[in-house]
Amino acid sequence: MTTTIKTILIFAFFFVLVSGTINLENLENYEDQIIPEYVTRDNTGMNEISDEGATLGRVLFYDKNLSTDKSIACASCHSQEFAFSDTSQVSTGVNGVTGRHSMRLVNARFADETKFFWDERAATLEEQVTMPIQDHAEMGYSGQNGDPSLEDLMDELEQLDYYNELFTFVYGDPEITEPRMRRALAQFIRSIQSFDSKYDEGRAQVTNNVMPFPNFTASENRGKMLFTQDPVFGEEGNRVDGGIGCASCHRAPDFSIDPLSRTNGVVEEVDGSFNFTIHRAPSLRDMINPSTGLPNGQFMHNGAFETLEEVLDHYNNIGNDLPTSIISQLDPRLRSLNFGQKLNMTATETEDVLNFLITLTGTDIYTNPKWSDPFDQNGNIEITDTPLSIVQPHQLNFQVSPNPATDYITISNQSDALKTIELVTLDGQILDKQDAGLGTDFTLDVSPYPTGIYLLKAYLQGKVYVDKLMINR
Ligand code: HEC
Ligand code: HEC
Repeated sequence: MTTTIKTILIFAFFFVLVSGTINLENLENYEDQIIPEYVTRDNTGMNEISDEGATLGRVLFYDKNLSTDKSIACASCHSQEFAFSDTSQVSTGVNGVTGRHSMRLVNARFADETKFFWDERAATLEEQVTMPIQDHAEMGYSGQNGDPSLEDLMDELEQLDYYNELFTFVYGDPEITEPRMRRALAQFIRSIQSFDSKYDEGRAQVTNNVMPFPNFTASENRGKMLFTQDPVFGEEGNRVDGGIGCASCHRAPDFSIDPLSRTNGVVEEVDGSFNFTIHRAPSLRDMINPSTGLPNGQFMHNGAFETLEEVLDHYNNIGNDLPTSIISQLDPRLRSLNFGQKLNMTATETEDVLNFLITLTGTDIYTNPKWSDPFDQNGNIEITDTPLSIVQPHQLNFQVSPNPATDYITISNQSDALKTIELVTLDGQILDKQDAGLGTDFTLDVSPYPTGIYLLKAYLQGKVYVDKLMINR
């Protein structure tokens, strides 16, 4: 046997062993991923990513049990292979097709637009993630017209051993609630980050987004400039100077949408009705697939454009066949008075911008196992090596006092074994986190938190111990 074949066999064997298994003693890294320092926008809010939470989120994301006929998971319409989007114009759910094109879920975290969906109808990502489950067409737990409800789904999931283990692992007990599902799913989605593109290699070598990148071709640098600079309009919306102004809405370096963006003139829904409230686009990163060079699905909410050339055609001449009443609703950046913009792009300019947009594609997100399907071919999953023990803290040589608490608690650390203590709500929100100094006790100020039951999580030697803390005042 040649070494190559041996290697392939070993890999195949390894894959068979590993897929379908979540090893809780050896979690993937979601919480300490490297974020380039030039990336500053972040909508994490009060839901910090933890390895535990995102691991649960991954299982939920890939679980077909979340749909009424057990055929559809989130991942059915958000496929890792296509930057977590779908190559069909509209996606198929349990009761028909979606009204819009699926959205890439890449760098969803790195934006100061906190609202989600094309029409921004979800106020936060946490709110968004349980909506597809409750959508009649998508996953079917609408609770209306004979559909089972989200409550029914949570009861069903509580019957599954792996969720018993995972919810206990993350939240201290096996109860499934909507806030717990939301936090875990949102953590997983926010963890999907892509910063290994040619753009990032270049951006890391300069001090701002505008400077020419040393690793770019002349054409890519020209394309970047055109994308970045605003156009100068002459008569009737004709561009007479400047760039093509994309970056005023799709902002570098994350290419997230400006929260103030209005409609870009793509106003027709798939069903033919008009909608002027499509104000969001996912990050423009990873639109093109690194292995095929083809788009990761159609573009825009209605999936009207198959290629980036068609997208540029749209921006090149917006809406001049539309009535003035519609033109006047365009975002002011895309018109001059009542004329939609005419960018008059030359063939070279178009090519330069296309070359630039391809530099926004990375490679890791498409293959990294931490974002892949954790279920095996038969839809089974096994949780191994659960490190969770709910034990009496005094058995471990540390003590929490007082419990119930009013203002401060002290956690003794006689054995020096404790690495970190977290104070967590029953929904998994981390309120306080402290790392141990050698031999020192922990003191936590609990005075800001209302009366109720909380969890104290203690991390030591690769294990997590959970104890309940009562705050009473
Ligand atoms: C049947 C296909 C389908 C399923 C299943 C599905 N989605 Fe989606 N997803 C879509 C479509 C289509 C959109 C855009 C819909 C819109 O804007 O009206 C979308 C949008 C989103 C967005 C918004 C992204 C953004 O940038 O605003 C997120 C996040 C998301 N889905 C997460 C999920 C999660 C989590 C699940 C599983 C609980 C899920 N989806 C299940 C099709 C699907
Ligand atoms: C005034 C703000 C604004 C400007 C300027 C703008 N866009 Fe957009 N862009 C949007 C909005 C809003 C959407 C979502 C529209 C929809 O889906 O119907 C969008 C969608 C897109 C999409 C589709 C993304 C996807 O995932 O399907 C691409 C590609 C795009 N824009 C590229 C560009 C380029 C290239 C330029 C410059 C020529 C540009 N945009 C200028 C607001 C803008």
